[in-house]
Amino acid sequence: MKTLLRIEELTKIYKVRKGIFKKDLLYALKSVSLNVVKGEILGIVGESGSGKSTLGKIVLRLERPTYGRVLFENRDIFSVGKDYTKKVSVIFQDPRASLNPRMSVKSIVEEPLVVHKVSDREKIVNEAMEKVQLDHSLLERKPENLSGGQRQRVAIARAIVLKPMLIVADEPTASLDVSVQKEILNLFLSLRREGIAFIFITHDIRTVEKIADRVAVIYGGILMEVGSKEEVLSEPLNPYTRFLLSNVPVKHPKMREYRDYTEAEYEIPLKGCPFYPRCPQRKDECFVNIRRVSVNGRIVSCNLY
Ligand SMILES: Nc1ncnc2c1ncn2[C@@H]1O[C@H](COP(=O)(O)OP(=O)(O)OP(=O)(O)O)[C@@H](O)[C@H]1O
Ligand code: SF4
Ligand SMILES: [Mg+2]
Repeated sequence: MKTLLRIEELTKIYKVRKGIFKKDLLYALKSVSLNVVKGEILGIVGESGSGKSTLGKIVLRLERPTYGRVLFENRDIFSVGKDYTKKVSVIFQDPRASLNPRMSVKSIVEEPLVVHKVSDREKIVNEAMEKVQLDHSLLERKPENLSGGQRQRVAIARAIVLKPMLIVADEPTASLDVSVQKEILNLFLSLRREGIAFIFITHDIRTVEKIADRVAVIYGGILMEVGSKEEVLSEPLNPYTRFLLSNVPVKHPKMREYRDYTEAEYEIPLKGCPFYPRCPQRKDECFVNIRRVSVNGRIVSCNLY
């Protein structure tokens, strides 16, 4: 399988204010390495504040990494020009916020074509509307006159109009009703069949289960484990993945022993394993470091291995 995107030792440090004079360093990402293969859906899962959106923003060039690099088709994404935005597009969580309320659906979907000076725009917009199963009669409407599901379909039409190779979708179904979520996930699967790869960011491991080919679990900016969906969900190696699965009702009864560990607020420690304040299997060394190892060809960060 051809690697499309290569994330190498990505670290993002923010300076955050602590009191009036003091600033602290916050590691949103710590040495994350990941690949995205052509035409796959890579699910990125973790709780709030794990670093998922930071990863997405760097891939979209909305943020610069502090250390590390991202290669797309073997070239550093920050050294390629405007062409990158043709090949990599985005879908955000809330289409109400991401779509310009003053523009018609037609102008919203057409805008990337205008920016990239693509001709034959009417035909391409119509094709995109068909792919996202939206009736052409909606083209003159404004986003406020659409349902939540229709608005997200408009955002998807806009994201696919330049025929991208990769879409970063950051919690794209989180603001939708359950029945609409299912339709939108099916739409992503049909786009994947056409060869588009996705980085699909979600806090919900059930969504990953429905859609992803591979799963990357992230917590406290650390890639806790990555593997095929089947491997990660049915044989999780990292206690944090087991914790996430323990919140899934019924489907993973094996993981019930982790039910006691609630999503209470824990300060993520600066050093060592970010999960150690909550980990039932922590060891002394977890307070000071965390090892990244390969177990049967799977990458896992955990001192149990
Ligand atoms: N611009 C910023 N300045 C300072 N800290 C930031 C900034 N952006 C993100 N962070 C911090 O970096 C960490 C990771 O944030 P990020 O938004 O990537 O998390 P997330 O996994 O997407 O969370 P959520 O599920 O809530 O969207 C958090 O602690 C967040 O507060
Ligand atoms: S490194 Fe230690 S604290 Fe972290 S998940 Fe593994 S066992 Fe638990
Ligand atoms: Mg986020």
